[in-house]
Amino acid sequence: MCGIIGYTGKEQAAPKLLLGLKRLEYRGYDSAGIAVSSEGGFSVCKKKGRVSELNGAEKIKGVCGVGHTRWATHGAPSERNAHPHAFGRFVLVHNGIIENYLPLKEECEGRGEKFISETDSEVIAHLLEYYDRGDVLAALKETAARLEGSYALAVMCRDEPNVLYAARRKSPLIVGRGKEGLYLASDVPAIAECGELYSLCDGEFAVLPGDKIRFYGEEGEIKKETMKLVSKSDIPEKGEYAHFMLKEMHEIPAAIANSLINFEDDFCFSAINIVLCQTEYIQIVACGTAYHSGIAAKYAIEALARVPVEVTVASEYRYRDPIVKKGTLVLAVSQSGETADTLAAAELAKERGATVIAITNVPDSSITQIAHFVLFTRAGREIAVAATKSFNAQLALLFSLAVALAKAKGRETVPSLRPLPALAEEVVSEAEKMKEIAPMLLGAKSVYFIGRGADYCAALEGSLKLKEISYLPSEGYPAGELKHGTLALIDKGTPVIAILMQEGLSEKTMNAVFEVYARGGRVILVTNLPEYAARKEVYRSVLLPKCEELFSPILSVIPLQALAYYTSLARGNDPDKPRNLAKSVTVE
Ligand code: G6P
Repeated sequence: MCGIIGYTGKEQAAPKLLLGLKRLEYRGYDSAGIAVSSEGGFSVCKKKGRVSELNGAEKIKGVCGVGHTRWATHGAPSERNAHPHAFGRFVLVHNGIIENYLPLKEECEGRGEKFISETDSEVIAHLLEYYDRGDVLAALKETAARLEGSYALAVMCRDEPNVLYAARRKSPLIVGRGKEGLYLASDVPAIAECGELYSLCDGEFAVLPGDKIRFYGEEGEIKKETMKLVSKSDIPEKGEYAHFMLKEMHEIPAAIANSLINFEDDFCFSAINIVLCQTEYIQIVACGTAYHSGIAAKYAIEALARVPVEVTVASEYRYRDPIVKKGTLVLAVSQSGETADTLAAAELAKERGATVIAITNVPDSSITQIAHFVLFTRAGREIAVAATKSFNAQLALLFSLAVALAKAKGRETVPSLRPLPALAEEVVSEAEKMKEIAPMLLGAKSVYFIGRGADYCAALEGSLKLKEISYLPSEGYPAGELKHGTLALIDKGTPVIAILMQEGLSEKTMNAVFEVYARGGRVILVTNLPEYAARKEVYRSVLLPKCEELFSPILSVIPLQALAYYTSLARGNDPDKPRNLAKSVTVE
């Protein structure tokens, strides 16, 4: 949800800002812009579209500047609404949402001030100008106190051309020191070369006067601990692959292997094991793909540990007055650890007395500051907006947790997770075959994904992937629900992807396949049961290796991710940057 960057130092700022913005583009790519301090003011370059549209901006001269890549919330994607926004002596970039911007704007307009954009962010520049009486930090603090909502802010003032000011509330902001200057960024990889990194917490401010970094809290100046440095492998590169999404699908086996946790072997998990022993009830809160991993976890945990699990979309949980009984464990699942709704749901659960375990792929993300415990998926940085390897990694971790919980509850026999990475390797190596199936979807008005139990989870995620990057209307349904409505939409040639990885449910799912066939629909069966792949009612089949059925979505989703990828390509889309979406949804 928007990426921000800032640099002040001895070298030219513009090339550094542009490089940082390219690395932050996964957060939004509706418009981009930079502002650089120059003699007596700022040089600003803004464009609608991607960072690559900022042609010539690298030539802007100056050693201090800020930049922004936008995911539009208030006001259409346009040059006028692109950041940086300026008023009076101030220029700034903002990530987040200012919820009370309308009354604030009216207040500024009441003073006769004119607004140029339709954004919520522009009002911040007006307030800074109003509150500044020669002390920019004081003005920033007074301004921040007027703002409701979320912000990561990087601010420059014409009177102090080489100084960057920053503030954070509920939107991530990292400060870094490199060999040639100081940086601000929404995310670590954007400034990965820095030898010293700090994460601002909510309510904190930073001042970067070109050589020192100063931090301030409510009470005054504070000291902060440095963060763990990033390794080179954390800096995302596409390498030999055409897209990050394809590269990330090839990283699935390693992501699974790295995210399987043996809670018994590792001393660090003993505290979590104690929590598991006391757990009577689990609530999983998450959004998007992470929500789907929660559904697969529900089936596995309930079957293996016999502990009831409720899975709720985080945006619903936070506003529905949830019941948190004694012994409730809340699992807040978020690849980025920054999704606003998941953070709010986790906070609410904690307030109501639940033990909260965050499951995230990003160290130092905001959710790690809320949860009692954190379990990291180790999928490595994920750049493509559509999640792939992080989903498989979440499943690996959640299934490990299901096994640990089953053991904590005294179950003696539990299935092994160990074969999963090798099986995933086998499936990934065949995924290119989905290129042949993708053309079948091209003329379709809509595509349906069906399955039961664990297969239903794969159906939901397969459908979401297709929607996100191919823009084809698609729905994931429990196979048994088909005849309660969706069957009315099936006619000649409608593609239906049926997932069948559980022998015990095979006849039931095949009944749905027969019903689709009888209406002229074309069934593509994703299965590990060869006897069904050969049926005449099956138009095309994708044969997968066998694995523990409860864990099977970790494999069956792979061809579905690949199907979405190749369909997106065949429709001429950019699978890494689907329209209107962003990877990290830090606003409501
Ligand atoms: C966005 C992304 C999805 C992701 C969802 C939740 O919608 O485009 O890929 O599943 O947010 O993100 P999180 O980081 O909380 O897992």
